[in-house]
Amino acid sequence: MKGVILAGGTGTRLYPVTISTNKHLLPVYNKPMVYYPLSLMMLMEIRELVIVINPEDKSQFEGLLGDGSHLGMNITYAIQPAPNGLAGGLLSAKESVEGENICLILGDNILYGHDVLKILNEAKRYLEDHNGAYVFGYHVPDPERFGVVEFDERGNVLSIEEKPERPRSNFAVIGLYMYDRDVFEKISRIRPSERGELEITSLNEEYLKEGKLKVKLLGRGFAWFDVGTHDSFLEGSEFVGTVEKRTGLMIGCVEEIAYRNGWIDRKQLLRLAERLNKTDYGRYLQAIAEEEKDAI
Ligand code: G1P
Repeated sequence: MKGVILAGGTGTRLYPVTISTNKHLLPVYNKPMVYYPLSLMMLMEIRELVIVINPEDKSQFEGLLGDGSHLGMNITYAIQPAPNGLAGGLLSAKESVEGENICLILGDNILYGHDVLKILNEAKRYLEDHNGAYVFGYHVPDPERFGVVEFDERGNVLSIEEKPERPRSNFAVIGLYMYDRDVFEKISRIRPSERGELEITSLNEEYLKEGKLKVKLLGRGFAWFDVGTHDSFLEGSEFVGTVEKRTGLMIGCVEEIAYRNGWIDRKQLLRLAERLNKTDYGRYLQAIAEEEKDAI
């Protein structure tokens, strides 16, 4: 499975903050927003990744993440020439990921919970044995802001709608999707929506029409944020700060995951920590390297 993170778009819902800055590089508490989807990819052991970006943001992303080798990964960048929707963004990554199952994560989504790894790996394995698409539903009070999925009493998907005025359920489709290798053929069938975009929901509808859309509902033990508005941005930052301070464990710490995955060694981790030595983040990495040393 290969990974695609969508980090393009205009971020108009965060204006004026994002007039001249890419949303996905803004800090959510103590790290850039894009670390959160990146860390999910890493937890799934996806090492090959394409980040889809706007043309003007290339040097900033490269400055932050480079080619991913410092994390033991292979990160490349695909340019989305114009904001033509999320399925349009995925299309921009076609050349690098075609022919593989794909995990697509929106660059402004944060997902946290005890069982995250379990449910993501279940989905990954499901797609190894079945054709189709696998998405996740999350109970929200304001479904009209999202893609919304409707079920019958047996849990079969009846409909999926993008930002409906009258939502048929309270289940939002979160911005983490897994697709089989037919995804690009399906994108070629969808038409732009009224707002002129190739919607991710239209792509999911293509799978639904063929009876190949699997939806897993996330229960109460998960926190999911789409940090694309002023309020949700603040809530996401407060959530991460609160959990990290309470537990002494970081959320979305890509260097830690690379180390625990065995993708980088202690020396490399210490080098990454050194650069951050004026922050609690750097001290956290340093402690992880020391703790392992003591354990040996
Ligand atoms: C996008 C999708 C929507 C999904 C949401 C999750 O909306 O179009 O279906 O529920 O992400 O974050 P956006 O936030 O880009 O408007």
